[in-house]
Amino acid sequence: MISAHLQPSFTSQMEEKNSVMGRENCRGKGGKAGFKVAILGAAGGIGQSLSLLMKMNPLVSLLHLYDVVNAPGVTADVSHMDTGAVDSWDAKQLEDALTGMDLVIIPAGVPRKPGMTRDDLFKINAGIVKALCEGVAKCCPNAIVNLISNPVNSTVTIAAEVFKKAGTYDPKKLLGVTTLDVARANTFVAEVLGLDPREVDVPVVGGHAGVTILPLLSQVKPPSSFTLSETEYLTNRIQNGGTEVVEAKAGAGSATLSMAYAAAKFADACLRGLRGDANVVECSFVASQVTELPFFATKVHLGRTGAEEVYHLGPLNEYESVGLEKAKEELAGSIQKGVDFNRK
Ligand code: NAI
Repeated sequence: MISAHLQPSFTSQMEEKNSVMGRENCRGKGGKAGFKVAILGAAGGIGQSLSLLMKMNPLVSLLHLYDVVNAPGVTADVSHMDTGAVDSWDAKQLEDALTGMDLVIIPAGVPRKPGMTRDDLFKINAGIVKALCEGVAKCCPNAIVNLISNPVNSTVTIAAEVFKKAGTYDPKKLLGVTTLDVARANTFVAEVLGLDPREVDVPVVGGHAGVTILPLLSQVKPPSSFTLSETEYLTNRIQNGGTEVVEAKAGAGSATLSMAYAAAKFADACLRGLRGDANVVECSFVASQVTELPFFATKVHLGRTGAEEVYHLGPLNEYESVGLEKAKEELAGSIQKGVDFNRK
């Protein structure tokens, strides 16, 4: 239901970057064409490629690139692309960077090195996410937030607590980005099935770390069946896809190009939802009542007010039911860690 038909849409929007039709089709607030988007952490590995991709998105009328280093350089660079408007703000001006934004994408923070888990990043990234979200609460409390900084399973809770404290929390507008897990699942499953990954849709639920990444192979589209060894191979590879990249980069960071692609795809879906497009559905880690946990990743419907509907898991097979219990156990601790951080 999702990726297979969303991927061509994302690609075609990139291609129509200069078309009049593309601009006329994306009326934002107040009749102004397009939406205002800020990227926090724009000079990083993900941030730079993401800035490039968002600069090409015809739904974006204004792009604010913010970082504690080198944001002016990245902005000068992408500003020479003959696409939409782009503006940059340096470290002293977080508030200006955020004011008036419709969508804020946050890839700020340190990435993993070999041997590290996403949880090892908590100490540094928790404080960064907290400070940036305080800025969002103050300057653009109605913006949709796409949170990329790891550990997503905890940073989303940190953001929620910041917004609650500020009195601005809208659960529909806080979205943890798990799109890379779906992109990896589609790619690896397509390899096994001998299909084009653009034709494959794998729901990936739970969270964004290790066993909390739960691909639902029984719900793959087009309908497919897998042997137990294929299921184990695919589940393991999807859960450890990030580590595969961390090890291949040998100390030079984690996934940046595929992540920027995934973040741009997810942001594009959020913008199409804001525009009022029908049937915009993606997986995301959001406030949820699908399980007993307060946050969980499932398919969500993206609309004018954010994640307007959180879909249920659907029927799980025995392998997935066992995986779900393991995912929930680990997720519970990660979610609580984010809550505790804010109470310190
Ligand atoms: P990076 O180190 O290349 O870039 C991070 C950027 O954040 C740097 O430019 C840095 O100056 C900036 N930054 C640090 N503190 C900041 C602050 N207070 N305000 C604004 N900017 C600040 O790291 P990379 O590879 O781009 O990864 C960024 C984050 O994304 C990491 O936490 C990583 O684990 C996470 N990630 C998430 C994925 C997901 O699927 N959700 C996948 C891959 C990475």
